[in-house]
Amino acid sequence: MAKIKWRGGALLSPVPPAMVTCSDGEKDNVLTVAWTGIVNTIPPKTYISVRPSRHSYKIIKESGVFAINLTTKELVRSADTCGVYTGAKVDKFKKCSLTKQPATEISCPIIEQSPLALECRVTDVIPLGSHDMFIADIVAVDVDESLIDDKGKLHLERAGLVAYAHGDYFELGKKLGNFGFSVAKKKKKQ
Ligand SMILES: Cc1cc2nc3c(=O)[nH]c(=O)nc-3n(C[C@H](O)[C@H](O)[C@H](O)COP(=O)(O)O)c2cc1C
Repeated sequence: MAKIKWRGGALLSPVPPAMVTCSDGEKDNVLTVAWTGIVNTIPPKTYISVRPSRHSYKIIKESGVFAINLTTKELVRSADTCGVYTGAKVDKFKKCSLTKQPATEISCPIIEQSPLALECRVTDVIPLGSHDMFIADIVAVDVDESLIDDKGKLHLERAGLVAYAHGDYFELGKKLGNFGFSVAKKKKKQ
């Protein structure tokens, strides 16, 4: 494949367009964050990178908590709306008809319509340039019980999750394999 060299840019794709909830104790807010990911397994740690100019920035910095709510195809319009309006002017829960659900370990709500929420407590704030990176412990995970089978297995593939790639939203589609499938031994035909 012949390649054209560009200067460095934030072109990792796909990334999750996460709906991040936060609260100052009086008002709750949601902002959409694509600069997020997992940075450690034990203890489970995540990050969100937020521009200091965002209304949510001060709320998260002062409260020390936030929740990452996964976006589904039913939520994608709301996720976009939460990424273009500011909570300084608009109640985005109301505007998007999002239902607040209490988190179990942190003081801000999660989104009832989201199938999975990560409750996060900030441990470090790292200024990087345009964005500050909030590194956080994932202190609880709230999962829609309809996605868990009777053996306790989580079926996230049934949630209709959405990916974000270079400005566009996509619904996750066809399963291509599972962890380790490339080295798994084939079952012998009988
Ligand atoms: C798909 C998408 C991804 C976004 N990712 C980020 C991000 O990673 N960090 C960030 O600071 N803003 C991001 N934004 C922009 C904020 O969500 C947007 O400025 C929002 O209005 C901020 O809300 P607030 O002022 O209520 O905090 C994104 C917006 C969209 C639509």
